[in-house]
Amino acid sequence: MFISGIKAQGRFLVKMISLSVSLLDDKQKFDETMLNLANAHNKRGVRANEYGIVGEVLFHSVKTCIGPAYTPKVHMAWIKVFSRMLKAIVPTAVAFELHEGYAQVQRMNELDMARKQLAHEYSARKVSTNTPFENTTTTPSTDSSN
Ligand code: HEM
Repeated sequence: MFISGIKAQGRFLVKMISLSVSLLDDKQKFDETMLNLANAHNKRGVRANEYGIVGEVLFHSVKTCIGPAYTPKVHMAWIKVFSRMLKAIVPTAVAFELHEGYAQVQRMNELDMARKQLAHEYSARKVSTNTPFENTTTTPSTDSSN
């Protein structure tokens, strides 16, 4: 999943959060950026339920890095920014998953119909090729008894 490596993902994450902080006052730009980010992650197969754990890891990492400077106030500030991001990202991720799930069910139904059609054609062909074969076997045995 991580082509550039897990460390690069960590850098992406922190960079994007810094960018998000700078965009907090421009709602339209913020939402647009989050939508692009969500779409990029959807394409890579990231699931909506994975964002929560990434947030936990992020808070833990910041806490480990800055130690006592990670006060409850700082923690609340991180939660506020991250929640704002997830408010925009998660609905897009869920909608994508639902759409993908629906498309997968459709593909499975199409495959199932094709399989049934093939099975039907195969058994129809078997019946039509078996019929002359059975006739030829009965004919010689009738002939030999004469
Ligand atoms: C709000 C949380 C997240 C932020 C801000 C974030 C940020 C980013 C950014 C800025 C990029 C680079 C975008 C690009 O190349 O177009 C990226 C790439 C990526 N992210 Fe995230 N990310 C988040 C959550 C996640 C989660 C939950 C996962 C999966 C568990 C994930 C997996 C990836 C992967 C696989 C890439 C591509 C990395 C590569 O090319 O090696 N991200 N992320």
